[in-house]
Amino acid sequence: MKIMHVVGARPNFMKVAPVMREMACHPSLFQQVLVHTGQHYDDNMSKIFFDELGLPEPDINLSVGSGTHAWQTAQIMMRLDPLLTEHRPDWVFVPGDVNSTVASALVCSKTGVRLAHVEAGLRSFDRSMPEEINRLVTDQLADLLLTPSRDADENLLREGIAPEKIRFVGNIMIDTLVRLLPKAEQRWGDLRTRYSLSRFALVTLHRPSNVDRDETLSEILDALHEIGRVMPVIFPVHPRTRGRMAAMSTTSEAKFLQLIEPLGYLDFLALQIHAALVLTDSGGVQEETTYLGIPCLTLRPNTERPITITEGTNRLVRSERTAIVKAAFDALSAPERCTAPPRLQFWDGRTAKRIVEAMRDLTVPEHAN
Ligand code: UD1
Ligand code: UDP
Repeated sequence: MKIMHVVGARPNFMKVAPVMREMACHPSLFQQVLVHTGQHYDDNMSKIFFDELGLPEPDINLSVGSGTHAWQTAQIMMRLDPLLTEHRPDWVFVPGDVNSTVASALVCSKTGVRLAHVEAGLRSFDRSMPEEINRLVTDQLADLLLTPSRDADENLLREGIAPEKIRFVGNIMIDTLVRLLPKAEQRWGDLRTRYSLSRFALVTLHRPSNVDRDETLSEILDALHEIGRVMPVIFPVHPRTRGRMAAMSTTSEAKFLQLIEPLGYLDFLALQIHAALVLTDSGGVQEETTYLGIPCLTLRPNTERPITITEGTNRLVRSERTAIVKAAFDALSAPERCTAPPRLQFWDGRTAKRIVEAMRDLTVPEHAN
C-alpha cells in the first residue's frame, strides 16, 4: 500500500521518523513518500532533525514558509492537492497538531484519500489555541485515529468518533526518545563544557499566548532572570520568540541566563536528561520530561497532555513572574527525583510497531479473520 507522510514543523519530525523506519522494514507491504510542507525551514528547525533522526530526504518539499494561519494553511492545501492526484496514495499519514496537519487533513477529505492521524485525541479544551482547532478538525476528518493515551480515546468517543476508527497505539515521541537516548547521553560532556553547566534550568517557549504579548513575555523573562541568580538558565530560543524579543528590544543581561539558538534533537535531549528543572510551553517537552523523570513547569493554564500531570513530573504554572519563581524554587527544593521512567501504558518505544500492526489488520481480508 502506498503511504504519503506529510510533515512540516519541528515536532513532526520526531513523530514521523519511527513510523517511516518501521514501515521500511516491511517493503512488501508499504511504499512510502515523504512530503515536507516547508512550514519550518531554518536548518536548526528542520534539516538538523532529518540528519539526526535518520529521516530520508523529503521526496517533495512544498516550501510554503511562514505567513498568517489562513495563508499558510491555504498554501499547503493548494500545493498538496495536485500531489494527491499525481501520487494516488492509499493513505496519508499526519502527526500532531500543526497547520501542516490540518491543511493535509482538509485536502484528503476533499479528494477522498484516507487519512491516518498519529497522536489523535489530545485536547486542551482551549479553543484560543490554534493547535486545539487543528486537532479537532483533523480528528473529525481522519479515517484512522492512532492515540497516545486512554484519555485521548475517551475524548474522541465523546466527540462521536466511531470506535472502530480509534486505535490506542501509544506515544510515538517516546519511540524516538528511547532509540536516541544513548546517543544523546554521549553529547553531555561537550555540552557541559560548552555552557559551563552543573546544576541548571532549561527553558523553551514559543506559544503565542506566552510570547506574542510584551507584558506576558516580560513577566516570564523577569522570572528567568531571577532563577538565573541561583543557577544557570539555558534557553534555546525558538524563532517566533526570538522575533518577539527583538521587537521588544529586551536586554537579557542576567549573568546566568544564556540565550542560544534552537538546538538539534540530541543536544536538547541531553540537556533535558541533566537539567534540574525544565520550564516550557512545548507539548512534546512535557512528555519527554515525564518519561525522563525531570521536574517540568508548563507555563500554560491547561494542557492537552493531562497524563503528564497525573502520572508524571509536570505542573501547570501561570505565566506571571511571582508564580513562576515560586514554583521553580519549590521544585528545586523538593526531594531528589525518582529516576525510573513512569510505567505509562505504551510509552515503551514500540508504538511504531503497533501502528504497522494496525495497518496490517486493515489490509487483512474480512474472511481471513
Ligand atoms: C508551530 C506550530 C506549533 C508548534 C510549533 C513547534 C502551528 C499553528 N503552530 O508554531 O503548534 O508547537 O510550530 O515549534 O502550526 N520561523 C522562522 N524559521 C522557521 C520557522 C518559523 O524564522 O524555520 C518564524 C517566522 O517568523 C514565523 C514564526 O517563526 O512567522 C512562527 O512560525 P509558525 O510555523 O507559523 O509557528 P510556530 O510558532 O513555529
Ligand atoms: N526540541 C529540540 N530543540 C530545541 C527545543 C525542542 O530538538 O531547541 C525538541 C524537543 O525535545 C521535542 C520537540 O522539539 O522533541 C518539541 O517540539 P516543539 O516544542 O517545537 O513543539 P510542540 O511539541 O510544542 O508542538
